[in-house]
Amino acid sequence: MDRKQALALVDRYIQTPNLKKHILAVGACMQRLAPKFGGDPDRWELAGLLHDLDYDLTKNDPDRHTWVTKEILENEHDFHDTEILNAILAHAEKKPAETVLEKVLYAVDPTTGFIVACALMHPEKKLAALDLGFMKRRFKEKRFAAGANRDQMRSIEAVGLPLDDFLTLCLEAMQGIASDLGL
Ligand SMILES: [Fe+2]
Repeated sequence: MDRKQALALVDRYIQTPNLKKHILAVGACMQRLAPKFGGDPDRWELAGLLHDLDYDLTKNDPDRHTWVTKEILENEHDFHDTEILNAILAHAEKKPAETVLEKVLYAVDPTTGFIVACALMHPEKKLAALDLGFMKRRFKEKRFAAGANRDQMRSIEAVGLPLDDFLTLCLEAMQGIASDLGL
């Protein structure tokens, strides 16, 4: 499976435009973070691009979220990359996050939505207008983007990356695909 094939699957299974943007953002962040942890940027991006593949299919049955992705990838696409499949399961707490890849994907998932919310509340409504200070002030406001679980975002520190560096790298990754994200 390569990036192009993964994007074709996203196009096939994801109908919700904002969900597709979220998936692209998570892919970009994972690719950007991989070298910090000695990971392969292409494989980490793949984990990001595939992590919510079944989200539209399981929205009324969240217990099945990620299990359906595993079934689709294994049974229909002969994809048996256990490291990536486990990271997909772990991001939705279907297994404990144990490996570095699993832990980073878990922390990235709420962070992209948080950064989108920061951009939307900024007067310029652009990712390009954000900086670390702006994000940190919003991070401390509990009612801002309340759906972005701060403990889950901060869990990146358990794998040795300070939150400030994490936010900066994720912002840079998302700025790199700003036109895809419409921000
Ligand atoms: Fe996600």
